[in-house]
Amino acid sequence: MNMRCDTIIRNATIIDGTGNPRSTGDVAISGERIAGVGDLGSWSADREIEANGRVVAPGFIDAHTHDDRAVLCGPECMLCKMSQGVTTVVVGNCGISLSPVRMKNRPIPPLDLLGGEEWWTFDSFGEYAERLATDPSPVNTVALIGHMSLRVEAMEGDVFRAATDKEAAHMQSRLRQSLKEGASGFSTGLYYPASNQAPTAEVMAVAEAVRETGALYVTHMRDEGDQVLASIEESLRIGSHVGAPVVISHHKCVLPNNFGRSVETLAVLEAAQARQKVSFDVYPYNASSTVLMPEKMREDVPIRITWSVPFPQFTGRFLSEIAEEWGVDIVAAAKRLLPAGAIYYQINEDDMQRILAHPRSMVGSDGLPHDQFPHPRLWGTFPRVLGHYARDLGLFSLETAVHKMSGKVADVFGLVDRGVVRKGAFADLVLFDPLTVRDAANFETPTLPADGIVETWVGGQSAYVHGKGATKARAGRLVTRGT
Ligand code: ZN
Ligand code: CU
Repeated sequence: MNMRCDTIIRNATIIDGTGNPRSTGDVAISGERIAGVGDLGSWSADREIEANGRVVAPGFIDAHTHDDRAVLCGPECMLCKMSQGVTTVVVGNCGISLSPVRMKNRPIPPLDLLGGEEWWTFDSFGEYAERLATDPSPVNTVALIGHMSLRVEAMEGDVFRAATDKEAAHMQSRLRQSLKEGASGFSTGLYYPASNQAPTAEVMAVAEAVRETGALYVTHMRDEGDQVLASIEESLRIGSHVGAPVVISHHKCVLPNNFGRSVETLAVLEAAQARQKVSFDVYPYNASSTVLMPEKMREDVPIRITWSVPFPQFTGRFLSEIAEEWGVDIVAAAKRLLPAGAIYYQINEDDMQRILAHPRSMVGSDGLPHDQFPHPRLWGTFPRVLGHYARDLGLFSLETAVHKMSGKVADVFGLVDRGVVRKGAFADLVLFDPLTVRDAANFETPTLPADGIVETWVGGQSAYVHGKGATKARAGRLVTRGT
């Protein structure tokens, strides 16, 4: 049989994303799909690549991102992800989505993580989807609709209170409409001051829109510190109330007095699994990052500034140093820097490793693409799991690492024919060197591309080549749960 296809990657170690052991063989791409996997000695292709035993895996699916705007601004904006082998991003997390709301003024934090009012121009999710179709991203996008974005619209900006029944009904109908237009779930960020005003009943009322549709409930919980167990219970209750699979975002136990408590949280999540669908994502670092919140300052949590509108010259510096220079306390210094973003060193390495190694965890970067001095997770998450945690520390096998970044995520989000190397699946692929793959980005130099990621393909098209950067390909599309 003489088959002709577009691209063949020969003599590869194939890690197929299912968690199954590796095999060796060739992978053929035809159009946007994988045409064959195995011994394809009699096949020929326009482009033949000798893998020399390097790994071909499904392109990684970043389970947790804030790339809502980044996917709209061309290949350069997504270099941070494609250079890690990422081919699909889940946007709209933590209650923050770029649609369906139009802003007249600068949005309140943390919505401003996505940018000032000039970026908030979508009256509906349908318009956002339309933009992705006419001006495609180099990577695929899976979209969630954020509670906070819905609130700003329904409550006309007056968000530091609980929503009325009428406002909750409005949010519910906007969410229902967005799901019809291609969104895959509902996200909340109940930790953040305005959304924290929303009682559980409000969230349940809005979440009615996902009832029995298979769409997900994804949450940055009300509290990841002292009240982490109560917050897990609340998340599970909301999910089971509307019959939705639950995803706990960036699972962690923050603040030194809670270090070690992942033993308890994982036990609760495991027990819940018998009653309802629940999973969680995690990033492989001991620090978190979000907007700077003076009301959340603690002496025992070092803080580093990632951006500041009035004082851009202080990005990358520790808040305590800035406060000392100004001769004020850290709360006063933080107030002066606003609006601003920060890294909080408040996660215990053992907790993070325990969560990362848990069979139900997925990897999500939570990278913040518009930060001036971003947390290194934006550029380093996926190669860090492959290199540092799987290969160097032996926390799990490379097969497990790849599964947590591809097949597992596709299963949770219901993505069909993605996250797996199999004949007929979409040709979203990464070629990497298992001996050299590693994250180069760190807290001091946070925007370096990874080593060892050789090439990334999206929908059969080469999207990133190591040493060359992003190509001009824009083969990404909106991917909806179940399609
Ligand atoms: Zn979050
Ligand atoms: Cu997030």
